[in-house]
Amino acid sequence: MEKSKVLVVGGTGYIGRKIVKASLEQGHETYVLQRPDIGLDTEKVQMLLSFKKQGAHLVEGSFSDHQSLVDAVKLVDVVICTISGVHFRSHNLMMQLKLVEAIKDAGNVKRFIPSEFGMDPARMGHALEPGRATFDEKMTIRQAIEDANIPHTYISANCFAAYMAGNLSQMGTLFPPRNKVVLYGNGNVKVVYVDEEDVGTYTIKTIDDPRTLNKTIYLRPPENILTQRELIQEWEKLIGKQLEISPISQHDFLSSMKGVDFASQAGMGHFYHIFYEGCLTNFEVGDEEEASKLYPEVQYTHMDEFLKLYV
Ligand SMILES: NC(=O)c1ccc[n+]([C@@H]2O[C@H](COP(=O)([O-])OP(=O)(O)OC[C@H]3O[C@@H](n4cnc5c(N)ncnc54)[C@H](OP(=O)(O)O)[C@@H]3O)[C@@H](O)[C@H]2O)c1
Repeated sequence: MEKSKVLVVGGTGYIGRKIVKASLEQGHETYVLQRPDIGLDTEKVQMLLSFKKQGAHLVEGSFSDHQSLVDAVKLVDVVICTISGVHFRSHNLMMQLKLVEAIKDAGNVKRFIPSEFGMDPARMGHALEPGRATFDEKMTIRQAIEDANIPHTYISANCFAAYMAGNLSQMGTLFPPRNKVVLYGNGNVKVVYVDEEDVGTYTIKTIDDPRTLNKTIYLRPPENILTQRELIQEWEKLIGKQLEISPISQHDFLSSMKGVDFASQAGMGHFYHIFYEGCLTNFEVGDEEEASKLYPEVQYTHMDEFLKLYV
């Protein structure tokens, strides 16, 4: 079967660049949206040029020019959007409504993967304010996709490793502590950590796969289903030292959310659902909807290996 042509929208972003890389590696003709709006952002320009050097096609298009999006979409079979969606950096998920309109008008797209790549928003209807905005917005985009009958796959990627494992799930830092570590509750809630490279690999694996059509696919590589305690122990083994544990109860964690800025409150809400409520693992996932079962050939990165980067 011929491999689909892929357009990545948001390709210079944090997860977008991993998706572009995986698409090229897996032999797809890959297009990356080149937005004139990036202006003089030299880092983005350099990244776009490096994609081009690796064989990607750059295609001009802007969210403020509907026809340019339609034209870009018409070049490909599959559209993957990785537009921003974390409050502490940038949050523009709702702009995807414009992309959905363009995909609808173009009429040729065989698969659309919207910007999700986190917790399954369909399971987060009860989420705390203000962090719930992310889930509500992702659900609004799903509704627009389904109303327009656009073939799709939703990727639930759980915790990106460099966001949540490299720091032993501490807030406000992306490096692991070497002395004292904050433990959420008893630290025994199962969490799922996924290396961002693997998020890219699995995402691209799904795009030509009839088994993943119009489904949510969960990335739950079994060796990376760990409690925070287990993650800390992996790090302790690597540095040959025990950390001082500083537990924070659910009550104290929730109280500490009050009065902090909006972005921190949103992030803390997500942490609450992951580390106290166990929202990543408190439901069953069938083999036909879990990426490591669908694609056993992928040698995913285990977290003990991942943490070696930080020693
Ligand atoms: N599971 C996790 O742990 C986790 C962690 C972080 C994020 N996520 C999710 O991953 C997804 C992507 O997030 P990210 O952190 O990778 O995003 P990001 O790096 O902050 O931004 C991604 C891209 O969004 C595009 N963008 C931003 N503002 C825009 C605007 N005003 N108009 C048009 N395009 C705009 C840019 O694309 P260009 O390349 O065109 O400039 C940017 O490179 C989100 O859905 C987020 O919720 C999950």
